[in-house]
Amino acid sequence: MAFPQNFLDELIARSDIVDVVGSYVQLTRKGSNLFGLCPFHSEKTGSFSVSPDKQIYYCFGCKRGGGVINFIMEEENLTFPDAVRFLAKRAGLEVPEEDGDREAGRRRQRLLDLNREAARFYYQTLQGPQGAAVRDYLQKRRITRPTAVKFGMGASPDAWDALLLAMTKKGYTKSELLEAGLVVQNKNGGLYDKFRNRLMLPVIDTRGDVVAFGSRVLDKSEPKYMNSSETPVYSKRRVLYGLNLAKKTKRPNIILCEGNLDIVTLHQAGFDNAVASMGTALTVEQTRLLSRFTKELVLCYDNDNAGKIATERALQILNNSEFTVRVLQLPRRLVDGEYVKQDADDFIKFQGADAFERLLSGSENGTEFRMAQIAGKYDLGDDQSRVAYCEEVSRLLATLTNPVEREIYTVRAAESAKITPEAMKLEVQHALRRRQSQENRAALRKELNPAAQLQPKERAFHYENMRSARAEEGILRLLILDPALFGDQPPLKQREFSSPLLGKAFSLLWQAREDGRPVSVAALAGQLDQEEMNHITAVCQQPQSVSNARQALADYINVVKTEAEKRAGGGVADPLLAATEKYKNKKGTGGKQHG
Ligand code: UTP
Ligand code: MN
Repeated sequence: MAFPQNFLDELIARSDIVDVVGSYVQLTRKGSNLFGLCPFHSEKTGSFSVSPDKQIYYCFGCKRGGGVINFIMEEENLTFPDAVRFLAKRAGLEVPEEDGDREAGRRRQRLLDLNREAARFYYQTLQGPQGAAVRDYLQKRRITRPTAVKFGMGASPDAWDALLLAMTKKGYTKSELLEAGLVVQNKNGGLYDKFRNRLMLPVIDTRGDVVAFGSRVLDKSEPKYMNSSETPVYSKRRVLYGLNLAKKTKRPNIILCEGNLDIVTLHQAGFDNAVASMGTALTVEQTRLLSRFTKELVLCYDNDNAGKIATERALQILNNSEFTVRVLQLPRRLVDGEYVKQDADDFIKFQGADAFERLLSGSENGTEFRMAQIAGKYDLGDDQSRVAYCEEVSRLLATLTNPVEREIYTVRAAESAKITPEAMKLEVQHALRRRQSQENRAALRKELNPAAQLQPKERAFHYENMRSARAEEGILRLLILDPALFGDQPPLKQREFSSPLLGKAFSLLWQAREDGRPVSVAALAGQLDQEEMNHITAVCQQPQSVSNARQALADYINVVKTEAEKRAGGGVADPLLAATEKYKNKKGTGGKQHG
């Protein structure tokens, strides 16, 4: 994975951030920066900025940022090496597949080949005598042969080492089998097949590679589903079961379900736009992946408590995304006088595809879903409860920013509460005002507490010592702005930094300077992960005065050293106190540290 640094520097130099970002986002110049609508969250006014001088992008809204490689990783949903290849192609540069890189690439390819061979083995097992039990099971679940073939389904034999033997015979090593998660090791170091006597469901990514397996038992034993662990070719956050097929759908949306077999049944019933997140909550990575194929999502989770929580969580992730989101609620089914939950698979089985199609076209949007959730909590025949309902629903309506939408749902809420629309509108206005004043109070609190305001967005990077961290930030900015300010020796040791992340960024940038390479944020892309990059970009996009830079640098270094000594000497640095001191200083000296 390691590309030679000089190649990366050349690539960054030849991929001007304004050109690259400009082909995705319409940018307009404002002062020394360019602004546009952020591609990573939905917004109506542009808070996404690009700095040609620093060659970075940064969104003041969602606080994502980085250099040109990060932009392509985020926008095209690519890994670092793939983003590098993507940009190289664009810039007409040949990628030097360095030894280490070629080696890593070869290993990845070996794992993918192994997975494919394993899938083939399971597939063939399903057709043969050892596949009888799984074939029976498929019949019981009414999964037809063409569907099973389409999904590449298979059967794992009822044996401890069937796959192990078959794959070693094909030349795959034990460590490769372990790395792929296809075999596991017992206490004595012996290896055995992870999947035995199960229905095998290969997980295929959008490129068509078999990256992992899901599997189901044939009886009632536990665990019902067993999936591959994370491997160098499989990260469950980044994959959706069935998307390899759903990406080709002609339907206008993509349906998100909970279970693998729901997807299979839906595809079989003609809903070839269904995908599942394999038993985990929807992730941001998955939504970014989906955004390449559709603008409309339909959430179709189980109609039980867990499903409702999953729906609410997904709505939160999708809030402020570019997707139109609807919620398809599966009705419960009456069995022996009792209503039981049913999933998409059950629904298709009992009510049929046409009924599902009707549900799909009538599915509610996110607001309707949330309103129904609230209404469900109250007995609207009871006056007392109606008052409580009005209060809660008006809080929800007050969060709608679009006035037309707010009006429509206000009228609807009035209908269900059996009050006049006027009364409901008043209630909503109250809620809006309350919300507004709460927001104002929160903003004021933030303003009065500079420490909180200056903390990194990501909890993991929170500053332990605000005074030192502010100085460390200044040192980073100066190093990028003018490396010549610094002498031959690093002014600080990495461990003297109070913020591990700032210390790490500093030593990476220092290394670049020592190697005579450009000292830039963009070049950190391969060494810091996206969350780290977001914060470092946030730090570096802030203005830094160059007048008196030498003195400022000396002051910064002094602060960091003093604070580090305090720490080493057991003196407890109180971050809150430090922050207030800093605040006083800043007022007194007219903000020397930040121009
Ligand atoms: P469910 O338990 O709701 O099962 O799990 P289901 O999809 O209705 O399964 P069937 O119809 O009984 O076959 C939903 C999803 O959660 C994941 C699987 O991806 C499953 O499809 N899961 C579930 C696991 O990963 N492990 C488990 O033990 C159970
Ligand atoms: Mn099911």
